[in-house]
Amino acid sequence: MDNIIDGKKLAEDILVKVKNETKKLYDNHKIQPGIAVIIVGDDPASQIYVSSKSKKAEECGFLSIKHVLSKETQEKELLQLIETLNSDPKIHGILVQLPLPAHINTNNVTQNIAFQKDVDGFHYINIGKLTANVFEDTIVPCTPAGIIMMIQQKCGKDLSGLDAVIVGRSNIVGKPIATLLTAANATVTIAHSRTRDLDEICRSADILVVAVGHPKMIKKEWVKKGAIIIDVGINRIATSKTDKTTTYIVGDVDFEEVKEKAAAITPVPGGVGPMTIAMLMVNTLKAAARAHKLPVPEF
Ligand SMILES: NC(=O)c1ccc[n+]([C@@H]2O[C@H](COP(=O)([O-])OP(=O)(O)OC[C@H]3O[C@@H](n4cnc5c(N)ncnc54)[C@H](OP(=O)(O)O)[C@@H]3O)[C@@H](O)[C@H]2O)c1
Repeated sequence: MDNIIDGKKLAEDILVKVKNETKKLYDNHKIQPGIAVIIVGDDPASQIYVSSKSKKAEECGFLSIKHVLSKETQEKELLQLIETLNSDPKIHGILVQLPLPAHINTNNVTQNIAFQKDVDGFHYINIGKLTANVFEDTIVPCTPAGIIMMIQQKCGKDLSGLDAVIVGRSNIVGKPIATLLTAANATVTIAHSRTRDLDEICRSADILVVAVGHPKMIKKEWVKKGAIIIDVGINRIATSKTDKTTTYIVGDVDFEEVKEKAAAITPVPGGVGPMTIAMLMVNTLKAAARAHKLPVPEF
């Protein structure tokens, strides 16, 4: 159906541009963007994410380094590794895969990554600049950066007059996408678990972004006809009651029924997920250009 937003295809197009810009950077200046990805522990989902990020970085022509640390690693050791990477001129982006084991303070870790290398966009300096609408040298978190690109491809850059509802107020998705939508002139409502009449609020949305982590929570009765629906959720469902190891992924939106009403909708998988990885590559490339005071490619 032509109302499906093909995040995979859009991400592939972005990655082609990243590859080309990376080649130009190397050919003209002998600079190769470098990313270091750190994983602590053996969470299977995190391992899959880290491998696919490292693989994409290699495909883009980046220097891609993976640090795999045991789940017993102490916070001090992790901070030392980050310090080394902060001062390594070959590394322009540092990503620590979340969640971290409970004995490590996640905030301490994310705030100790140099903000210029914080390609996840979690550092308070990047968050602060984003909130202040300073976009030139700010690293925007990858998932919201991909989402706003998908929305603006459908609706145009200026979202004046459109009502956007975001379900979920997390620091990594809900809040930054609210900031980006507001900056693009949408009128934004942020809903969460304490919101009253959530179905009614969702029905008022011209643009509905859902990031809650509850499988198929948004039903067709909750959606305005002709709305743009962005499903951020990744929920792993066991294939059968007896076999819990084989899983498939669904989003937070009941895709099959909502797609009949939506003007455009992202599938899960194949929507927001691939765009998130593509934007990580964009953030790393831009960080490399900035580190060498070169013009930053536009996306
Ligand atoms: N595709 C991607 O690349 C990508 C990237 C990041 C996250 N995700 C996925 O997106 C989902 C959300 O991630 P997150 O990190 O933002 O999650 P999170 O930090 O757990 O936040 C979830 C948000 O949903 C709200 N919520 C929970 N139950 C609700 C309900 N019944 N009604 C209304 N709001 C409710 C929570 O409200 P309160 O604040 O009131 O608790 C919270 O604000 C997860 O499935 C995650 O795996 C996907």
